Amino acid sequence: MPTTASSPTLAGRSPAVSELTLSQIMDQHHTNLMGTVHGGRILNLVDSVAGVVAARHSDGPAVTAAIDETAFLEAVRVGDVVHVHARITWAGRSSMEVAVTVTADRWDRSVPATPVATAHLVMVAVDELGQPRPVPPLIPQTTEDQRRYELAQIRREHRLALRRALGAHPGGL
Ligand SMILES: CC(C)(COP(=O)(O)OP(=O)(O)OC[C@H]1O[C@@H](n2cnc3c(N)ncnc32)[C@H](O)[C@@H]1OP(=O)(O)O)[C@@H](O)C(=O)NCCC(=O)NCCS
Repeated sequence: MPTTASSPTLAGRSPAVSELTLSQIMDQHHTNLMGTVHGGRILNLVDSVAGVVAARHSDGPAVTAAIDETAFLEAVRVGDVVHVHARITWAGRSSMEVAVTVTADRWDRSVPATPVATAHLVMVAVDELGQPRPVPPLIPQTTEDQRRYELAQIRREHRLALRRALGAHPGGL
């Protein structure tokens, strides 16, 4: 299967067509022993929003193939309003990279919105049998879109190289 060529038969789309921000108030149901919000709760939101964005870009369901470069920058507290923003940075034949940034407004807005997490996800568009299906090409519109696209391509090459290298050492973890 080709590794980078998008489907030539589907019309290209800009990242702006599918980008999305979900805002949610953090409650006490997902706290850790420190009393702050569990990282898994944040990851759940990241994965969900990335899934919607990938589905919007590809006009159908998409599954998560990989979540990488996840960084938790600051603790999220009960009462914070978190904003999860996701946008497509790159599209291949059936896969898409989605970049997600999470910021938090402290409940009393005592400080400016705080960046709390970032992640890059590889989402794969699938058909009714769960098999990869072609996605529209991504058309960067701005110089910032183009910059993100080029960075995503570098990450893609590193992911594939890592998979190849690890594949030479079967047996899993
Ligand atoms: C993701 C999935 C559909 C890929 O199926 P596959 O048979 O391995 O498909 P391919 O090898 O043809 O890969 C399809 C695309 O995904 C990319 N891909 C697959 N796994 C990847 C990974 N770990 N990292 C980066 N890219 C990956 C491939 O490079 C390819 O990209 P392209 O079509 O844009 O060139 C399949 O592994 C799957 O269903 N996984 C489970 C997904 C899931 O349930 N997620 C939720 C987890 S809780």
